[in-house]
Order: sequence, then structure tokens, then C-alpha cells
Amino acid sequence: MKIIVTGGAGFIGGNFVHYMVNKYPEDMIINLDLLTYAGNLETLKPVENAPNYKFVKGDIADRAFIFKLFEEEKPDVVINFAAESHVDRSITDPESFVRTNVMGTTTLLDACRTYGIKRYHQVSTDEVYGDLPLDRPDLFFTEETPLHTSSPYSSSKASADLFVLAYHRTYGLPVTVSRCSNNYGPYHFPEKLIPLIISRALNDEELPVYGKGENVRDWLYVTDHCKAIDLVVRKGKVGEVYNIGGHNERTNLEVVKTILKALNKPESLIKFVTDRPGHDRRYAIDPTKIETELGWKPEYTFDTGIVKTIEWYLNNKEWWEHIISGEYTKYFENMYGERL
Ligand code: NAD
Ligand code: DAU
Repeated sequence: MKIIVTGGAGFIGGNFVHYMVNKYPEDMIINLDLLTYAGNLETLKPVENAPNYKFVKGDIADRAFIFKLFEEEKPDVVINFAAESHVDRSITDPESFVRTNVMGTTTLLDACRTYGIKRYHQVSTDEVYGDLPLDRPDLFFTEETPLHTSSPYSSSKASADLFVLAYHRTYGLPVTVSRCSNNYGPYHFPEKLIPLIISRALNDEELPVYGKGENVRDWLYVTDHCKAIDLVVRKGKVGEVYNIGGHNERTNLEVVKTILKALNKPESLIKFVTDRPGHDRRYAIDPTKIETELGWKPEYTFDTGIVKTIEWYLNNKEWWEHIISGEYTKYFENMYGERL
């Protein structure tokens, strides 16, 4: 099979490309990525010379380019990871999220419709369901939970999901959608909570925690997400949505304290800062459908996954030090300058 993976130079897409190139030597993996600030070819070093791997630089929202690529490659499967993915950036610049996340998705869908496809898979997020209250630990997101978004990011992802499902109903396009909870692991860009805290704690810098640090996220180790997507693409039912999560809820403060303890750094580095506007309180996935219908089970708990992640950041300083010494310095100043 020829598989186009979009956004394969980013965090989850990069881990997915590693997984697929190694697991399926008989398949051809084409990594299509625009290399925005979040895309990094260093992430692909371990597979860049594999005979079943190819990188193509391009924009999923560039219709002429995408149609030409499909004409040339005639892919069997498209798995769309490419997105603007950071909630805080969506608050300062919503439009780029509409362009890539919505128009990029409809462009890919139109190319799939024109050239034919065995499967289009949309990598979505639990954020499309909005949030859950902190005082109702009995509530979880199921595939039937209504879409109820909070941020420009989640609104753009929910719009994309609706287009994907509409293309199935209207044109019979063979699609699947997966909605996963927060990922963590190797190659995670240090604007997101876990890599931000690890990299700053290692440099003995202040650690910004929004509000009181009481918001809850449901953390999943990235390779467990990659395995779930592979399973949905190969065995999932066309037209269906699958939630992915492993019941690993933690408050942000718990996450930060766990990292500090593992690194033997003091809690005095923590600085409570002005909250994110519209900050979602709690995410929690009910993964019953993917577990019972497809037999998926995560390999890692938060306790085992965070140890592996911290080890990776300790052993791969070059990867993240390179990032935080460039453009990132300006980003950090703009985003946190007045808060810290
Ligand atoms: P990321 O920001 O690390 O990577 C995104 C990648 O997409 C980058 O390589 C970037 O260069 C590329 N890209 C951006 N715009 C593009 C465009 N117009 N054309 C082609 N490529 C473009 O993101 P991530 O955290 O790896 O997330 C990947 C996907 O998974 C996203 O769709 C996101 O919504 C979804 N998701 C993320 C999480 C999470 O916890 N990170 C959880 C659930 C779902
Ligand atoms: O749930 C899935 C989503 O998880 C994905 O769809 C998104 O692409 C991904 O970025 C992630 O969104 P979050 O907003 O949950 O992740 P982030 O790492 O930005 O923040 C996690 C929590 O930590 C959140 O409650 C905000 C808080 N936070 C974040 C940062 C960057 C802080 O307290 N301080 C920080 O500096």
C-alpha cells in the first residue's frame, strides 16, 4: 500500500512515521509536511534512508499542489495529522487554524474524491467535546458526546471532523475519525506542557502553571496512540468515530510535581500565572468502543510513560536545545513575557 501521512514531521505524525516505516516494510510511507515552526526533519533522522520512506514538502491547503501530488502518487490511504495544534497560538491567531485545519482537510478530501482512495483517516482530538466539570469524575467523553468546543483550535478541529463525516455521507468517501486525549513522549515540541516543564526544569527556569494548576488532562503515551490509529485504519468501520484514551487523568500540578520529583528539582520553580482564556477544565476519554470492537489496549500507564519520556529528553538534549535557542525565544517572550 502507498500511504500518505500528512504532518509527519510533527510530534505524533513523526512517531507514527517511525512506527509505520518499521512495522510495514512492504508499504510505502510518504510524509507530506509544510515544515512550519512545529515541523522538524531532525525527528525523521532514524528513518530518512529507509527504502519505504519518502519526504515531500508541501501545504495541505494548497489545492493545485495537492491534486498534482495525488495525480503522481495515487495513494491508497491518507492519514491526516497535519494541523496547527497549539491552543494558546489559536487564541492569538485563529485564522491560520481555519486555513490548515479546515481548508487543508477539505482540500485533502476533495483530492481523495477525485482520485479515489481506500481509506481517509482524520486524526482528531477529544477537545471537540469541550470540557467536563471537575466535580463529576463519573463523566467521560463517549463517541456520542455532543461537539461543544471552547477554543479556536478545537472549533477548527470539530469543523474538520464534520466535513470528513459529511464527505462519507454525501459522497460515500471511505473515512474514519479518531479522537484522542493528550499525548506525550519523544519529539514533543516544547511549547506544550510536559516538554516545556522538562526542558525548563532542566535549565532551572521558572515553570508557568496556568491558574491554580487544577485543570485535568487524560495523558496517553504517543506510541499507544500510533498503534490505535493503525488499528482503526486497518480494522475500523468506515464512517465511524473512535475515541482513544487510557484513563490516565492528572491535574496539571500533579504532572509538574511528578516531573520535578523525577528530575530532583525543587517545587519552588513553579510559578502560577494568569490563566488561559476559556481554559477547558477536564478531559476524560471513555475508550470502551475501540477496546471492545478493535481489541486496542494501551501499553503504558502515566507512571511508566512519563519515566520513559523524561529519559528521552535527558538523552536527546540536542533535539530540544536546538528548538529552544531559535525562533522559540521570541514565542516564549510573547506568550509568557508579562506573565512570568
Ligand atoms: P504538531 O504541531 O507537533 O505537528 C503538526 C505538523 O503539521 C507539523 O510537522 C507541521 O509542520 C505540519 N503542518 C502544519 N500545517 C501544515 C500544512 N498546512 N500542510 C502540511 N503540514 C502542515 O502536532 P501534533 O501534536 O503532532 O498533533 C498532530 C495531530 O494530532 C493534529 O491534528 C492534532 O490536532 C492531533 N492531536 C494532537 C494531540 C496532542 O496531544 N498533541 C492529541 C489528540 C489529537
Ligand atoms: O486533548 C488533546 C489536545 O491536547 C490536543 O488536541 C492539542 O493539540 C494538544 O496541544 C493538547 O492540548 P492542551 O491545551 O491540553 O495541551 P497543553 O500542553 O497546551 O496544555 C496542557 C495543560 O497544561 C492545559 O490545561 C494548559 C496547561 N498549561 C499549558 C502550558 C503550555 C500550563 O499550565 N502552562 C503552560 O505553560
